[in-house]
Amino acid sequence: MPLENPQRFTVTAALIYANGPIHIGHLAGCYLPADIYVRYLRSTGRDVAFISGTDEHGVPITIRAKKEGMTPQQVVDKYYTQIKDSFEQFGISFDIYSRTSNPVHHETSQQFFTTLYDKGYFDEEVTEQYFDEVANQFLADRYIVGTCPVCANPNAYGDQCERCGTALSPNELIEPHSTLSGSKPVKRQTKNWNLPLDRMQPDIEAYVNSHTEWKTNVFGQCQSWLKEGLRPRAMTRDLDWGIKVPLPDADGKVLYVWFDAPIGYISMTKEWAAEQGRDWELYWKDQNTKLVHFIGKDNIVFHCIIFPAMLMAEGSLILADNVPANEFMNLEGDKISTSRNWAVWLHEYLDDLPGKQDVLRYVLTANAPETKDSEFTWKDFQTRNNSELVAILGNFVNRAVVLTHKFNGGVVPGTSVSDDETQLALDHALLDELAQYPDRIGQAIEQYRFREALGLLLDVARLGNKYFAETEPWKVAKTDPQRANTVLNRALQIAANLAILCEPFLPFTAEKLRAQLNLMASPDRKLDWTNAGRADLLVEGTQLAPAELLFAKLEDDFIQLQIDKLNKTKAMNAIDNAGAPISGAPTDGTPEALEQAAETTIPAPKDTITYDDFVKLDIRIGTITEAERVPKSDKLLKLRVDDGMGGRQILSGIAKHFTPEELIGQQVTFLANLAPRKMMGQESQGMILMAEDADGSLALLPPHKAVWNGGTVS
Ligand code: 2FM
Ligand code: ZN
Repeated sequence: MPLENPQRFTVTAALIYANGPIHIGHLAGCYLPADIYVRYLRSTGRDVAFISGTDEHGVPITIRAKKEGMTPQQVVDKYYTQIKDSFEQFGISFDIYSRTSNPVHHETSQQFFTTLYDKGYFDEEVTEQYFDEVANQFLADRYIVGTCPVCANPNAYGDQCERCGTALSPNELIEPHSTLSGSKPVKRQTKNWNLPLDRMQPDIEAYVNSHTEWKTNVFGQCQSWLKEGLRPRAMTRDLDWGIKVPLPDADGKVLYVWFDAPIGYISMTKEWAAEQGRDWELYWKDQNTKLVHFIGKDNIVFHCIIFPAMLMAEGSLILADNVPANEFMNLEGDKISTSRNWAVWLHEYLDDLPGKQDVLRYVLTANAPETKDSEFTWKDFQTRNNSELVAILGNFVNRAVVLTHKFNGGVVPGTSVSDDETQLALDHALLDELAQYPDRIGQAIEQYRFREALGLLLDVARLGNKYFAETEPWKVAKTDPQRANTVLNRALQIAANLAILCEPFLPFTAEKLRAQLNLMASPDRKLDWTNAGRADLLVEGTQLAPAELLFAKLEDDFIQLQIDKLNKTKAMNAIDNAGAPISGAPTDGTPEALEQAAETTIPAPKDTITYDDFVKLDIRIGTITEAERVPKSDKLLKLRVDDGMGGRQILSGIAKHFTPEELIGQQVTFLANLAPRKMMGQESQGMILMAEDADGSLALLPPHKAVWNGGTVS
């Protein structure tokens, strides 16, 4: 059950690894919704601690250090600063943004471990792990590379093959070797400390099941873990980078990074509370505190199962009330990927589109991956900027301010009571509707429906535009200046409300809007959510600042620059995938490089074979006489091929490339002596040969003139 009327909120946003810059996927997945939530809570006067920082331990850091030729410490120092700066620039309003390398965090984590140890929670387990005798250290799964047993990728990692996506364990790799020294690792015994999640399952299950209100993607993922049955998990690792295990017989061992990282939320709260002269315990121990973790979907199990299990074991701390995890955001049709540089990096965005942080905040929220993966495209970015921010929100505010300058010298006019029934009814309906928005938007935010909340915000501006269209003050001013002034006053009150209501979503715009309206708080009129909805936020007689556009239109050529930038990345990746760039070739995305990228995407040559190998292949020409789809398969076509020898059936995985109709009557080249094999219960007696084009499309290989069926190819 969710906590009703909490006294205070502890809101956390994932402690991202300090091993690289941050991109739009991070912002959309976790930090923006968290920031909107917190800004809204603050505006309603609630007591909130908004906690985050960097996760500076674990293998992801050491791997990055190796890649960049730096020490792990240098890596975390570099990226902590860069990440913190990006968040600041985008207005993510953490109360503290700290790091897990701080002493208070080391102490808190070690103390936590000791508490669980003293309570007898851990089971010691001795297992065999791969050890690199040259580097003299145990190897984390990521440090072991070998051949994937599924797709034969020779560079599969000990935890996953990145080519075919199969999750692996190091034991499954063929010919494993260490990436540290290249040597063949040996198995060595090592002792670690396990959290017995299996024994804790009933308690964890009860906890998760008491939160049926969680988002379906979150609740569903928890249920599937629970259904599979929880297994004990080691809370220590053999690694030289991390927080030392506080036990006498634990030399060379550190806390598992997923043990210490979430404790970071607590240690960072301690740091913040100490700075602020507050009591951290209220934020972690009081049952009236609502704890909410904002994360991306890859972190769900750690926040909904493992961390709660740790907290239960510790005994004195509260559990999360909600974990509103988002799904992932894709970019221009492809998964965002740091290693492929397929991302819009925040620091680059700031260089390319200075001052447009709110546009990105808007687009990422409007497209937030709240219930399923979503997509960022530059075209959509442009459309949302031009048709929503400029045409609806910016346009309304601009009209209100410009008309006030034109007809009332830029001074907020007063209102007068009309004796026209229609006008009265119109204004009444307007003010009534306006008054409902703060609650409607607030409710959506409190239920973690940020897209909906943003849609409602835009509806407030639409309301204003509609009111202008209905009242036409620019015409009325000539005949009935009093009525025109009343209309302008109402419009300006809507704009003032927008300044409050848009603050959680668009904080920079809110500030500009406040300045433009010269909107001032007073003791009886705080400019926060509690007063939003009122029609007297702007005081009569207030002098407005000169009109200034809130948003500017984005032209096609500007957007094209961003698209070109991504295309260059694609081309560079193509070069990388094809192996090393041609010697001396430019690799900076110049036209020459792009051309060469196209050339070098040709698959690498295969190993040389002998003539004897070649003549074993019986390649022939035949004509396709029948073709149909194989039921329940979206790839396979069943073909009848006239091979001059009575005909044969061949199954071919080309259904996505050809319709059956276009194949009938075509001469093709086929491999005639491939051992027959069954696919989807049907036998295939050979293989149709195809040429693959650069874009992945397939072409048949007919002879250049019709030849007799069964003719051989040599
Ligand atoms: O996925 C990550 O980047 C992790 N470092 C998140 C940790 S969140 C929390 F547990 F600290
Ligand atoms: Zn594989």
